[in-house]
Amino acid sequence: MTPVRERCEVLERRRTGAYQALTLVAPRIAEHARPGQFVHLLAGEDRSFPLRRPFSVHKVERPGTGMGTVEVVFDVVGAGTRALARLRPHDVVDALGPLGRPFDPPEGPAGCLLVGGGYGTAPLFFLATELRARRCRVDFVIGAATAGRLLDAMEAKRLGHSLTVTTDDGSAGRRGLVTDPLAGLLASTGAERVYACGPMPMLAAVSRLAAAAGVPCQVAVEEQMACGTGICFSCVLPVGDGGGAGPGATRMARSCLEGPVFDGAAIAWAELGHPDLEGAVR
Ligand SMILES: Cc1cc2nc3c(=O)[nH]c(=O)nc-3n(C[C@H](O)[C@H](O)[C@H](O)COP(=O)(O)OP(=O)(O)OC[C@H]3O[C@@H](n4cnc5c(N)ncnc54)[C@H](O)[C@@H]3O)c2cc1C
Ligand code: FES
Repeated sequence: MTPVRERCEVLERRRTGAYQALTLVAPRIAEHARPGQFVHLLAGEDRSFPLRRPFSVHKVERPGTGMGTVEVVFDVVGAGTRALARLRPHDVVDALGPLGRPFDPPEGPAGCLLVGGGYGTAPLFFLATELRARRCRVDFVIGAATAGRLLDAMEAKRLGHSLTVTTDDGSAGRRGLVTDPLAGLLASTGAERVYACGPMPMLAAVSRLAAAAGVPCQVAVEEQMACGTGICFSCVLPVGDGGGAGPGATRMARSCLEGPVFDGAAIAWAELGHPDLEGAVR
């Protein structure tokens, strides 16, 4: 569907662990949003924030079952997210959405392994709800730097058939990276699909491990973006043969339009320039 611009009333803003959760009354976006898509929010009413900030849709309440709300969860990292963290109920936020390509769910019931790093876990809850409605088995692996930076582990436990938790410092779950238990889980759960969201080095490692196990993998990337609608080319990332570039070539795909969800095997990870593609999940 064509994205719409909605001026949305803030229903609630609350803390969830290290993050902020923002619920917006956005019936037209809520009606059409699919897991993996994002909303592009203007951080302030004045002109000090000309660029919107993108956030994955975390939860949706469709109009009819409720008011029609969209919830996002965000980390406060800069001026825009600081402004969003000051919002109160009844304030108004300008939102554009739903934007981007969603996750592609399996046709029938299938085993799905959902892998989230830090706030990158946000879109996986919406996805898990849809997968369960399709009678898929859902296994979660979520990781973060510390226990406080895990997102909604209790909710993952409720939605998932199983939950594996990792933290870099061992303050919750297993000490290490979210990718450490992946090879074992791919084997023990019999997963037929992998869906992941988190930092780029993590997504590169998840894609490699899924490919090694012969399991299709979709990843939601979080490249910086300006327009969010395909006009400015600020969000490009290299895709290789698997993305239709042709043998030995890469082309630049706009992650706001062709993504944020990509086939993990299509992204030319080595060209992203990260020093450590095994990376952490901070
Ligand atoms: C598809 C997608 C989904 C995402 N989902 C989430 C999520 O669920 N939760 C979450 O916490 N984060 C998410 N992010 C990351 C989130 O968008 C950033 O953390 C947020 O934009 C930071 O905004 P800021 O203003 O606080 O930070 P800043 O660092 O101040 O700004 C962030 C970015 O805005 C742009 N920008 C700001 N000012 C300028 C300027 N003057 N000129 C040019 N560019 C500028 C730049 O791209 C800059 O890097 C997502 C990102 C993407 C792409
Ligand atoms: S953000 Fe402008 S083209 Fe993607």
